[in-house]
Amino acid sequence: MPFHHVCSACGTTYDAGSLINLCRACNAPLLVQYDLAPAPELREEIVTRAPNMWRYREVLPAGEDEAVTLGEGITPLLRSQRFPNVWIKDESKNPTRSFKSRGMAAAVTMARKLGAKRLAAPTAGNAGAALSAYGARAGLPVFVAMPRDTPQSIVDECRGYGAEVELVAGVITDAGKRVQQYLAENGGFDLSTLKEPYRVEGKKIMGYELLEDLGRLPDVILYPTGGGTGLIGMWKAFDEMQRLGWIGSERPRMFSVQSSGCAPIVRAFDQNLHSAPEWESPHTEAWGLRVPRAIGDRLMLRALRDSHGGAIAVDDARIEDAASELRKTEGIDAGPEGGAALLALHELRAKNAFDDEATVVLFNTGGNKYR
Ligand SMILES: Cc1ncc(COP(=O)(O)O)c(C=O)c1O
Repeated sequence: MPFHHVCSACGTTYDAGSLINLCRACNAPLLVQYDLAPAPELREEIVTRAPNMWRYREVLPAGEDEAVTLGEGITPLLRSQRFPNVWIKDESKNPTRSFKSRGMAAAVTMARKLGAKRLAAPTAGNAGAALSAYGARAGLPVFVAMPRDTPQSIVDECRGYGAEVELVAGVITDAGKRVQQYLAENGGFDLSTLKEPYRVEGKKIMGYELLEDLGRLPDVILYPTGGGTGLIGMWKAFDEMQRLGWIGSERPRMFSVQSSGCAPIVRAFDQNLHSAPEWESPHTEAWGLRVPRAIGDRLMLRALRDSHGGAIAVDDARIEDAASELRKTEGIDAGPEGGAALLALHELRAKNAFDDEATVVLFNTGGNKYR
């Protein structure tokens, strides 16, 4: 499908066809825009194709024939055994056991196609693991920088895929600075969250799959949020689905779930801000949520507000127990980020944020990988 890039802040457009990071005019994230026209029949056709995310090739920047793929996407949407009307999108079933594989599959595909010779990104953990695996698959060298206290299992996973791993004092924003320095010295392409346009494209397919799974969109989505690519991607997907004539103007209420130890989006949402100032001294058991400042903050906050959703910080001390509860009662390979989403479900229900009849999708974004 023909596409171009549009700056999410100033609207400057850029042609497809060469490697690109942020908007050259204002440094904001670029989003992919396709020339979409109503195609109701496409919805039926797509579900007959092979069960991986590339079945949505009309709304992806590349086709399966050129994809760097490990079979990502089309994960199960499981009915909760305990809570009526609650479904769990189990992203631990992706390659490298997290939803990060979707974004990296799309980003590495495009990086290779457009001529990148070396790939680099900072990571809170799972993005680095996914980049390492897809880089190996693409035959391209990978450099990842991550906080020194990242669980050893993740460091081993990245190295196991042959990546060069550097441990950095501080958090992901510090790792980001190290990646900039590395790229300046060695060259290569920067795949940091939202600093290239294609990770969002892979992640957005989660939104398409919800329609495929349920036959309609859910009323509520609970999404554990760090950099926000999943949230931003799904919000973009709903817009595309409307342009394709697959849905009307209805949208799920999107709730961002963060930890009490690192909740910049929740604070900004509560204070009615349009961007999210950096969270000081971030700490959380849910490593994927330890993102003190996100370049996609404006896009996230806009999606949460436009969807009449919200943002909730759950008690960090209870996250691991909640993940364990998910594992023991649902049989799901739940990581702490999924545990955070379960806690959010309990708390939002207690506050009557939505009624019991509402169809709720809770994202288990990754498996129990940190030990
Ligand atoms: C398991 C898991 N869940 C959620 C997140 C946050 O993802 P996003 O950047 O889409 O907000 C991460 C990011 O590292 C993660 O690893």
